[in-house]
Amino acid sequence: MRVGVFDSGLGGLSTWLACARLLPEAEYFFFADTAHAPYGDRSADEVRQLTEAAYQHFSALGVDALVIACNTATSAAVAPLRQQAAMPVIGIEPAIKQALAASPGEVLLLATELTVRGEKLARLRREWDTEQRVRPLACPGLMEIVESQAADWRQQAAAYWQHHVAPGLGASQAIVLGCTHYCWLREEIRTWSGGLPIFDGNDGVARQLYRLLHRQEPGGPGALPEELVLRLRASAAATEKRAAARQLLRSSGAEVEVLPY
Ligand code: DGL
Repeated sequence: MRVGVFDSGLGGLSTWLACARLLPEAEYFFFADTAHAPYGDRSADEVRQLTEAAYQHFSALGVDALVIACNTATSAAVAPLRQQAAMPVIGIEPAIKQALAASPGEVLLLATELTVRGEKLARLRREWDTEQRVRPLACPGLMEIVESQAADWRQQAAAYWQHHVAPGLGASQAIVLGCTHYCWLREEIRTWSGGLPIFDGNDGVARQLYRLLHRQEPGGPGALPEELVLRLRASAAATEKRAAARQLLRSSGAEVEVLPY
């Protein structure tokens, strides 16, 4: 079975790893729309059109399911896309439900500008955040730091945290990573926040993919397969993206193969 995984960049590789742990038998194709990233600074209409174009790309590849490994694209585009898609489309959304259930206090949600102002988050909050405990904070520029994989990207992210996030941490008791790029800073964010519990939507996506493809409930995630290959297409800077993906995936042992776009 073939599964397409889509993000504006490499952040969604964190979602791909969660899927590969739960469904190691699937053949995955990852598309990073690097020519148009970051999505978080664009309008909802633009992101809808870009997501629609990505869907056409995967449709031509003949995948059995599409994972939108981008909270921003899910927020702007998943509903209209599902109306016309000929395959299951699984989106990712900020794990506020899980964070609210696990913590009695304030929950800090880190996401892109577009996700923070999107109607999808407003709906999610009306449903689950009736006590108004979620505090969304847009983090423009943070995605780019992860995406660059510059030699000092972790130091850049630490400086970003100090200036942009730490002053507003306040009484937060949990943190939701509402952008798949931020998942690559999970351990750092735990440390910088003084050990707060961290939530993201990656496992939820993998479980939903499993349900849709196997028509049964998944068990727990297993280990990554020994021979794990990332088939990567990028709409710009493919050679740099290959190097950046290899760096991000180093501890997973995944090989990165770049395919022509
Ligand atoms: N990785 C994307 C997300 O989960 C967005 C990054 C961007 O393109 O702004 O929201």
